[in-house]
Amino acid sequence: MSSVVSSARPQYPITRMLLLILIGAGSMALSLWWFAEPPATEAATLRAQAPQVSTQVVSALSSVDALPSLGTRSGAAARTVQMRKKPGVEVVDPTPEPAVKKAPAKKKTKKKQIEPKPVNCKKAKCIALTFDDGPGKHTAKLLKTLHKEKAPATFFVIGRHIEAYPGVLRTMSEQGHEVASHTWSHDDLRQLSTKKINKELKTTAKAIKKETRAAPKLVRPPYGAVDAHVQKALEKRGESAIMWNVDTLDWKNKSVKLTAETAMGAESGSIILMHDVQETTVDAAPRIIKKLRKQGYTFVTVSDLLGDVKPGEIYRRR
Ligand code: NI
Repeated sequence: MSSVVSSARPQYPITRMLLLILIGAGSMALSLWWFAEPPATEAATLRAQAPQVSTQVVSALSSVDALPSLGTRSGAAARTVQMRKKPGVEVVDPTPEPAVKKAPAKKKTKKKQIEPKPVNCKKAKCIALTFDDGPGKHTAKLLKTLHKEKAPATFFVIGRHIEAYPGVLRTMSEQGHEVASHTWSHDDLRQLSTKKINKELKTTAKAIKKETRAAPKLVRPPYGAVDAHVQKALEKRGESAIMWNVDTLDWKNKSVKLTAETAMGAESGSIILMHDVQETTVDAAPRIIKKLRKQGYTFVTVSDLLGDVKPGEIYRRR
C-alpha cells in the first residue's frame, strides 16, 4: 500500500503540466473558432432568419428529394426553391423582404386556350394523312412543313430504318404525330410463318417504343397484304391493320402535281396513303394541306380519326 503512494507522488508535477497544456490548447481552439465566425453581414442575415425557421420547414427539409450540396448557402437556396414547388409546404424565404404594401390583386382573366381544342370527328370533317416507308432523308423536311401548318399526321415506319435517323421518331411524337408500325423488313406478311410475323411486329414495336415511349397499336401491313393468318397474329398482339381509301400512287407518279391532285379525292373520314421517302410527296404536302383545309377539312392522326379500334380488325377509313 505504502509503495503505491510513494510511487504516485513523483508523477504529480507531470499531471499538472498536462492539465496546463490541455487548458492552453482549449483556449487556442476557442479563439480560433471566435475569429472564424462569418462576416458581420452574413452573420446578421443568418441570425435574422433563425427565429423564422419553423418546425414545418424542418420537416419539409427531410422530405425534399435530392437535396443539393447540403449545408452550403447555395444549397439552402436551392432547397428553398424546391420546397416552393411542393404543394402544401409553407416556405420561409432566407432573405427578409422589405415591407412593401401589396398591390390589390388583379381581377382574374379567363385562361386563354393555347392548346388546340380536341377534334370531334363525329362532327368535324376529319382526314388522316399517312406516310409510309420512312424514316428517310426527306422526313425531316416533311416534319417542318407539318409543324408549320399545324397538321398532325401518322407515320408508318419501317423498323430497320429507324436507327439511321436518330431523334426523328421522337420529334414526330413530340410534335403531335402518331408513330405506327410498317413492320421491320417490309415483307409480305402473308408469306411468313406466325413466328416470323410476330418477330416483324415485335422488333418494330420495340424500336418505336424506345424512341417515343409508346408501343404502336396500329400496323400497316406492307403492300396492304393481309389474310386471316396475318389478322390472327395481329389480334394476338392487340394490334389492328390500317389500310387507306385514297391512294395517291406517289411512289409511281413521282409528281408533285399528280400526287396533290389525287389527294384531293379525299372526303370526310378518309385515310390518304403517301410515302415520306418520296421527295415529290414531301414537296406536295403544303399544297395538299392548304387545299383540303380550304374545303373545310381538319387533319387528325389515324387513332384520333378512328377512335377505339379492335385488335385484328382491318380499317380503310372512318
Ligand atoms: Ni410500304
